[in-house]
Amino acid sequence: MIFFTLVALFVLQSGFTYTSATDGVKAAAMLDGRAREGERLYREYNCTACHQFYGLGGYMGPDLTNVATQPGKGPGFARAIILHGTQRMPRLGVTEAEADALVAYLQAVAATGTYPIRHVELTPWGTYPELHRDGR
Ligand code: HEC
Repeated sequence: MIFFTLVALFVLQSGFTYTSATDGVKAAAMLDGRAREGERLYREYNCTACHQFYGLGGYMGPDLTNVATQPGKGPGFARAIILHGTQRMPRLGVTEAEADALVAYLQAVAATGTYPIRHVELTPWGTYPELHRDGR
């Protein structure tokens, strides 16, 4: 009896897991029009040749996952560098409108999480404490 109950629970759990976990959020649906244009430009200008998101990409430039929300940097800072370059980053000929779209994309990426991954002290019962979206 116990055995069959466990088998039935297993089947139920599997059914639940495989039906509910597969209809996740579509990444592209999270981007509004401008951010989606920014994503296209990010590919067109091949920013990923030098930059990373979540540690993945080229390594000539810094990781851009949170540059749009980082204290001391942020959207204005990112926009200026995208438009004018620096001594180390080439000026790519990005127009003002394109820079706005790229910044909107960087802001959308920043809203997806933090990198490097934050160290979080677990609660004594092994769960995550309540996390705040602004990274505290
Ligand atoms: C040829 C390599 C290269 C390409 C291509 C490139 N970058 Fe950069 N980028 C760099 C380097 C190197 C830096 C660091 C500049 C410095 O510190 O002077 C940088 C810095 C930045 C920064 C500031 C990051 C920070 O945390 O200080 C942003 C934002 C940025 N790039 C965005 C972009 C975007 C958007 C694109 C595509 C349109 C792009 N970059 C294409 C090399 C590149």
